[in-house]
Amino acid sequence: MTIIDQPALETPDRGTPAVMGAASAHVTIDGIPVMVPVGTSVMRAAALAGATVPKLCATDSLKAFGSCRLCLVEIDGVKGTPASCTTPCTDGMVVSTRTQQVQQLRRGVMELYLSDHPSDCAGCERGSCEMQRLAHDVGLAEVRYGLGGASHLAEAPDESNPYFAYDPAACIVCSRCVRACSETQGTFALTVSGRGFDSRITPGGTDFLSSECVSCGACVQACPTDALTEKSVVSLGMPTRSVVTTCAYCGVGCSFKAEVQGSGDATRVVRMVPWKDGGANEGHSCVKGRFAYGYASHRDRQLSPMVRDSIDDEWQVVSWEAAIERIATGFLGLRDTYGVGAIGGISSSRCTNEEVYVVQKMVRAAFGNNNIDTCARVCHSPTGYGLNHAFGTSAGTQDFASVEQADVMLVIGANPTDAHPVFASRMKRRMRAGAQVIVADPRRIDLVRSPHVEAAHHLPVQPGTNVAFVNAMCHVVVTEGLWDEEFVRARCEDADAYLEFIAHPEHSPEATEGETGIPAPDLRAAARLYAAGPNSAIYYGLGVTEHSQGSTMVMGMANLAMLTGNLGREGVGVNPLRGQNNVQGSCDMGSFPHELPGYRHVSRPEVRAIYDSLWGVTIQAEPGLRIPNMFDSAIGGSFKGLYVQGEDIAQSDPNTQHVEAALRSMELVVVHDLFLNETARFAHVFLPGASFLEKDGTFTNAERRINRVRPVMPSRVGKDEWQVVCEIATAMGYPMSYDAPSQIMDEIAATTPTFAGVSFARLDAEGSMQWPVTEAAPHGTPTMHVGSFVRGLGQLTATVYVPTTERANRRYPLVLTTGRILSQYNVGAQTRRTPNSTWHPEDILEIHPSDAELRGVASGDVVELSSRVGTTRLTALVSDRMPAGVVYTTFHHPVTGANVVTTENSDWATNCPEYKVTAVQVEVVTEAARAQWEEAAVLPR
Ligand code: SF4
Ligand code: SF4
Ligand code: SF4
Ligand code: FES
Repeated sequence: MTIIDQPALETPDRGTPAVMGAASAHVTIDGIPVMVPVGTSVMRAAALAGATVPKLCATDSLKAFGSCRLCLVEIDGVKGTPASCTTPCTDGMVVSTRTQQVQQLRRGVMELYLSDHPSDCAGCERGSCEMQRLAHDVGLAEVRYGLGGASHLAEAPDESNPYFAYDPAACIVCSRCVRACSETQGTFALTVSGRGFDSRITPGGTDFLSSECVSCGACVQACPTDALTEKSVVSLGMPTRSVVTTCAYCGVGCSFKAEVQGSGDATRVVRMVPWKDGGANEGHSCVKGRFAYGYASHRDRQLSPMVRDSIDDEWQVVSWEAAIERIATGFLGLRDTYGVGAIGGISSSRCTNEEVYVVQKMVRAAFGNNNIDTCARVCHSPTGYGLNHAFGTSAGTQDFASVEQADVMLVIGANPTDAHPVFASRMKRRMRAGAQVIVADPRRIDLVRSPHVEAAHHLPVQPGTNVAFVNAMCHVVVTEGLWDEEFVRARCEDADAYLEFIAHPEHSPEATEGETGIPAPDLRAAARLYAAGPNSAIYYGLGVTEHSQGSTMVMGMANLAMLTGNLGREGVGVNPLRGQNNVQGSCDMGSFPHELPGYRHVSRPEVRAIYDSLWGVTIQAEPGLRIPNMFDSAIGGSFKGLYVQGEDIAQSDPNTQHVEAALRSMELVVVHDLFLNETARFAHVFLPGASFLEKDGTFTNAERRINRVRPVMPSRVGKDEWQVVCEIATAMGYPMSYDAPSQIMDEIAATTPTFAGVSFARLDAEGSMQWPVTEAAPHGTPTMHVGSFVRGLGQLTATVYVPTTERANRRYPLVLTTGRILSQYNVGAQTRRTPNSTWHPEDILEIHPSDAELRGVASGDVVELSSRVGTTRLTALVSDRMPAGVVYTTFHHPVTGANVVTTENSDWATNCPEYKVTAVQVEVVTEAARAQWEEAAVLPR
């Protein structure tokens, strides 16, 4: 495996953001001619001409501020010495950046700064302070003012945040951190208090940990003096090299420079710095990707293969060869005894495209069936079904940058500030620039109202009634004549039947408000706003898909976008916010039981023929078992062996008792993971996995962007996961081998039309690409369905609303819905093993004040949450973010096991579980029971 060192540790900073447009202004800087777009700052033009101007308050990720007066220049015909960061270029401008006058002025300014700055620059243990270098650049040899006067040097640092510290002694009050928090992150946690000498940076008059700060790290990144510094840099020292790779948490797919020390097995990550050239994040990050990478070296990590005869036995450490032999013999034996359909595999959205591809290949070629499914089954499988049905491809229609052109954003069943934070920052920027937002969600999420942003409408749609809601939106659009007749007639089919269906009075807001909980006038106003656009974009999450009508709802949103002509250009579209880092990729790679890579049905002989001839096998024409079918068949006695890669089905899948019963019924369960997770309690073989820092491959994010994942260090377990899978297949009699993951991608590209132009070499050259990458679109496709849909005409579908059978009743009068919180991630296997648990040490049940009062529940009480399938306990939080009748929790901690109460209801088309609707009761538990619970609730660290 090759460790690829990427760009130099320091990324060039040109001082002010790039200005878009043609380079039409001819400017001369220190005698060097340069062409820039009009409006570009003199500072940026100078940097482009190679004449870098000293700066402290400017950085190219933030708007110019003009406070430090270090960047002064002289301009022919202009009086005085203007600040180069705030002076825009005009055609014919002649600039001098190093005259004697400006050099002297800069020395004076720098001297003043250094007179109130720690004097131990040379021995400073903080990372990359710019002060020392700037003092040298401006030619400052000594500071004449004594350090005996008033200063900030004795002020105490703020060490409250687990990941970074603030030292006021080193702070020059340049305000870069304040601007990063407001402009880039959109949290507005920092302010400058006081004036003049008394100016201080403060997180709202408290410490960082107690403040509104969400620990995104943008301020740390922006700080020129390292007054804000990562604690890891202080404890480990500065990194010596960097590798560009991709975050392994959510579907935003942020790019990072992993900055490290050492090499080979001695490699140590010092910090993860968001990469400015990252297509998805453009230099921004959230607390998970930026700081929560320590799980990769956590002591709980299993580094050796282990086997046991029975799940009641102790684990025995064995060699890789012995473990693989055990798996191969076991699966072959089960196949011989119970038939070819008795075994199967589950691939993971946490793994790379290349790893997922080889898992589905192993199942189809070595196992000999289509019993391959993926964890996307339980999150976004309805997206695949619904968007494919409507548009002809199972993916979102836009890139993230498209939101910059949106006038109206309709956010349905998604909570981007917690689940997709870097994209949420982008949305909030757009809101501050004037875009209107409609939030359809039972909870009052942050986008409804937070500092400097407020949604135009919050529609508190009752869980389970999404389809009635979207039909009512479409009804208003059609019956009030707001639909785009030209678009519909030219680009859609079955329009007349659909228009007749949706115009029926039963879909009106007035007829449905009792069901949806949305007052009819609010819904009408929101529908008019969306239809008026002119650019309206839909963003949605698992609050859409994880319903018994998840696929219908996806089609309903597609109907709404088609009716209003909001497809096929920037600023519009239907955009799933994908949960895990590689949900899109794991679906693309053929890990559904009915689809080969590229979403081609296994029943299509011409598609099977491609793989039959390349792999030398005969692929079955019938779809295999989905995950819930595997569980049912296991309990029924016909499904006996399962390979699970990187998914903790015992914790993440619904109705835990049912899942556990299924796992107990199997004769061979193989878990391939970083940790001994809940599923491993039922496993006979455990294979240690590689963390994202050890992987070589690609992830595909929510905007179809294929990003490189590069190994920062060698695999700590001695083997890459794709190699292990190849060895299992080979031991089962189907030889499978590759020289490197790049060769797997070459096979994907050769067999999957949408990936035809993808290779590691091209990704390395272009940074990232959005599929389809074809001859017609050699650099990828940011916006889909321009001019026509992938399927030709868009499919308008009569989306009949069928209420879920899961209804509140006398015994279970409340409805539970679930979601995520910013600091934790899914089942918490990674984030619980980092200091992120500081913010969210346990799952909390949010309950409306009136529901709480009725039950005598106060915030902090331990309550019993029960449904018709199970019971669990959580701590309550009384919150008016919830509507009456609905309670909410997360599912990050196995000790609460929220899925103990979720039911086996699922989407009619895809079996995606109905996590978002469970009828429950909530009761306060006794003091004795509470003590017992607290004792049991010791969390792993
Ligand atoms: S903490 Fe850093 S970025 Fe913030 S004002 Fe001080 S020196 Fe500037
Ligand atoms: S870490 Fe992020 S949220 Fe916190 S103060 Fe800094 S920029 Fe603001
Ligand atoms: S937004 Fe998602 S991809 Fe980006 S750093 Fe956070 S968790 Fe990682
Ligand atoms: S960098 Fe221009 S005034 Fe500070």
